[in-house]
Amino acid sequence: MQDLRRMAVLLASLAAFPAADAFWRLPCRGRTGVARLDPIVDPGEVSSHVHVVHGGGNFGMSANYETLLKSDCTSCGVEQDKSAYWTPALYFMHTDGSAEMVDQVGGMLAYYFNDKAPGDKIHAFPEGFRMLAGDPFQRNFTWPVPDPPKSNWAGAQISQKALEQKALGFNCLNYATTAEGTLDRHYMPNKTYLDEHCTDGIRLELMFPQCWNGKDVDSDDHKSHVAYPSLVMEGDCPTGYEKRLVGLMYETIWNTYAFKGVDGYFALANADPTGYGYHGDFMNGWESGVLQDAIDTCKNEDGNVDECAVFDIQTQTTQQKCYFDMPAALRSEKTEVCASGLPGDMAIQWGPAYATMGMGSSETTTTAIPAIPSLSIPSLSLSLGVSVDSGNMLGNAAAMATAEAATTTSTSTSTSTPTPTPTTSISTEPITEEIVYLERKIEVLIDKEGVPYTTITGTPTTVSTAMTTLTETSTVVSYVERDTVPEEQQLEEREISGHARRHLHHHGRLHRKHGF
Ligand SMILES: *[C@@H]1O[C@H](CO)[C@@H](O)[C@H](O)[C@H]1NC(C)=O
Ligand SMILES: *[C@@H]1O[C@H](CO)[C@@H](O)[C@H](O)[C@H]1NC(C)=O
Repeated sequence: MQDLRRMAVLLASLAAFPAADAFWRLPCRGRTGVARLDPIVDPGEVSSHVHVVHGGGNFGMSANYETLLKSDCTSCGVEQDKSAYWTPALYFMHTDGSAEMVDQVGGMLAYYFNDKAPGDKIHAFPEGFRMLAGDPFQRNFTWPVPDPPKSNWAGAQISQKALEQKALGFNCLNYATTAEGTLDRHYMPNKTYLDEHCTDGIRLELMFPQCWNGKDVDSDDHKSHVAYPSLVMEGDCPTGYEKRLVGLMYETIWNTYAFKGVDGYFALANADPTGYGYHGDFMNGWESGVLQDAIDTCKNEDGNVDECAVFDIQTQTTQQKCYFDMPAALRSEKTEVCASGLPGDMAIQWGPAYATMGMGSSETTTTAIPAIPSLSIPSLSLSLGVSVDSGNMLGNAAAMATAEAATTTSTSTSTSTPTPTPTTSISTEPITEEIVYLERKIEVLIDKEGVPYTTITGTPTTVSTAMTTLTETSTVVSYVERDTVPEEQQLEEREISGHARRHLHHHGRLHRKHGF
């Protein structure tokens, strides 16, 4: 069933291009990993934000052309291609401040266009070539919306900055209606719009520059050795960038609809809820000669990669068995569900100012936590037996509550028991319990239109404390099987008798599958 649905999704998600375009669609059905890594921008270091990575298995902190070529696998469809393809992950920001990665559907598609400039020779990426597309710091769009007809583009409209911003697409997917055009919308639709219209999620599209200066395989900003042609996907190359490279475009699909009706908003891993800062990286890892051969001989107009005789095609199953080695520094980092916000402490930046993406800033994404009761239990004779899968949100919430306590006496235990089990414990010893109420002030600054542009979050301060002495406490934690009761009721069942009273707004997605 899942597979049938997926197949329908994949077939329906193929972008339509004018018939005269020769291209192939390289599937990357596997994802080699998800991590704060970017060997182009931050070689040898942990990167600021999380990327989803596809391609050669030798991807890593210090990957380069030579090491990628030696990969013994690729998560894409052509064996001779060990290139690495990466973009920021998409997260859902819950109202409790936690971030949950949205499911990526079907891996990634890399489109290779080899007919965008009739008459021009199209060149393969040279050895050692790498580039970035998009600007992770960008938070505004100062050009007309929607795009005027391309025939009217002139002046600043065809500046590299404008073209770069128009090379991003946020395609609202609803397979029951007419498809939107590729690269038509250059921002992230808001949650209301996504809930209402985008029943099959959102497709992020990213077109790379294809005009090259003909000599540098990289540049300081990893961009200025290449440029966009005057109409983003086609058109004239600017002076100094006359060599035409094969056109490259990424597509990833994200199941934003799984969060329909849940309060919160979407943000890219680079702390960007606007979408204007979407970006991607490409590091060439094609075996010498193969790409040029394919460019010269594979002129199909239906995009089917199987029809290009130059390629050794590998199955989807094989594509899904290729993973890179996670660097030790990142092995324990959670990237799927993060209780305190985006991985790397990336504080959301709404713009419109150019983002700083400072790490470990005190800003947070939380919009409303007026008071956080936190607990300290000097003499623990209360045992709250919460047995949960240590990787799920309930475990995280318990850990957070513990971390906020004035003393670190634990009020919960986590075990790796995969299914929650009801636990009851009764204590007859006197218990002295201190309840500390913390208050944190959060200011959401809005512009004249009422659109939030920045959030200032104060540090929690103690408003009051209360001591209570209990001579008898009984705590009942019961878990009710999902689907047997309405969700609201489940949530109430989970609020554990006044302790760690943190609402869990993670309706029914604690045990999702993350395979493609
Ligand atoms: C969401 O976006 C739609 C379409 O762009 C707009 O009409 C609507 O006002 C927006 N809603 C909010 C709450 O910003
Ligand atoms: C819009 O972004 C640009 C950077 O591309 C920045 O220089 C400019 O100040 C931003 N506009 C506003 C109103 O902040």
